[in-house]
Amino acid sequence: MQVITQVNELRETMQALRCRGKSIGFVPTMGALHEGHLQLLRASANDNDITVCSIFVNPTQFNNPEDYNLYPRTLDADIALLQATGCDYIFAPTPEAIYPQQNMLQFSFGKLETVMEGEHRPGHFNGVATIVGKFFNIVQPHKAYFGQKDLQQVAIVRQLILGLGFNIELVCYPTVRETDGLAMSSRNKRLNADQRKIAVSLHVALELARKQLVQVPLPTIKEAVAAYLKDKPEVALEYFEIADPLTLQPLTTITDVQEVALCIAAHVGPVRLIDNLVVNLSEV
Ligand code: PAJ
Repeated sequence: MQVITQVNELRETMQALRCRGKSIGFVPTMGALHEGHLQLLRASANDNDITVCSIFVNPTQFNNPEDYNLYPRTLDADIALLQATGCDYIFAPTPEAIYPQQNMLQFSFGKLETVMEGEHRPGHFNGVATIVGKFFNIVQPHKAYFGQKDLQQVAIVRQLILGLGFNIELVCYPTVRETDGLAMSSRNKRLNADQRKIAVSLHVALELARKQLVQVPLPTIKEAVAAYLKDKPEVALEYFEIADPLTLQPLTTITDVQEVALCIAAHVGPVRLIDNLVVNLSEV
């Protein structure tokens, strides 16, 4: 496994591998790796000749400077974890190498951006699309691996690939959870012991909503979720939405739909967490 920090070095290495007929899988991350990331790496190593993992805390996707500054950075531990996954190249550039000038690109993803993460984190998806687009250009992978944990991000990347005509297959893997059900996240490292315990209530709220889906009107489910979280110390609900899993648009009824996405964002102490469940209505 090789660590590369220079854009040109990675570009040339990938170019040479493609010329030799090697298939390339790419897993973009911001580091502080956990099992959610590692499953993507193992899947890529299984599917492709070569696997590249980027580790880059991307400044342009943080709408909150404190969140950017406090984001965990654990490169040495990440490198150690990647050894066992079958990863071949780690791309760990500096912000200056990636953004030699202030970013001026502006993407618009229409209605996808006006809901949930798009609505509550202005500019976030512009930063995600910018960095993922840059990485796709540098690596030019055959396949790129993303987690369902960031469902709206998957929808944005799908549109980026379609819109700009990248010849890349988007592969999406389910959310990996801690044993109590909390979705794994690099930000969980910032929770103290009490906050960590209470953080599972996001998952519990989603399960509560899932159980009510076919019997209870959607507005009543939303009220039940808000009421459940209201008593939890240090938990502040930002949104809970019942949405179409592909367009992410909020649903007012579930008649005529096969699948729904239950999406939640909340602060637990100082840390903002998101989670979702995609529910097949024939299975509830
Ligand atoms: P990061 O939060 O590090 O996540 C990297 C990838 O791992 C994303 O595709 C994310 O959805 C996936 N992932 C995170 N937690 C997961 C979990 N518990 N189960 C399954 N997959 C999980 O997402 C980003 O970084 C950035 O926005 C990035 C795409 C790298 C662009 O900067």
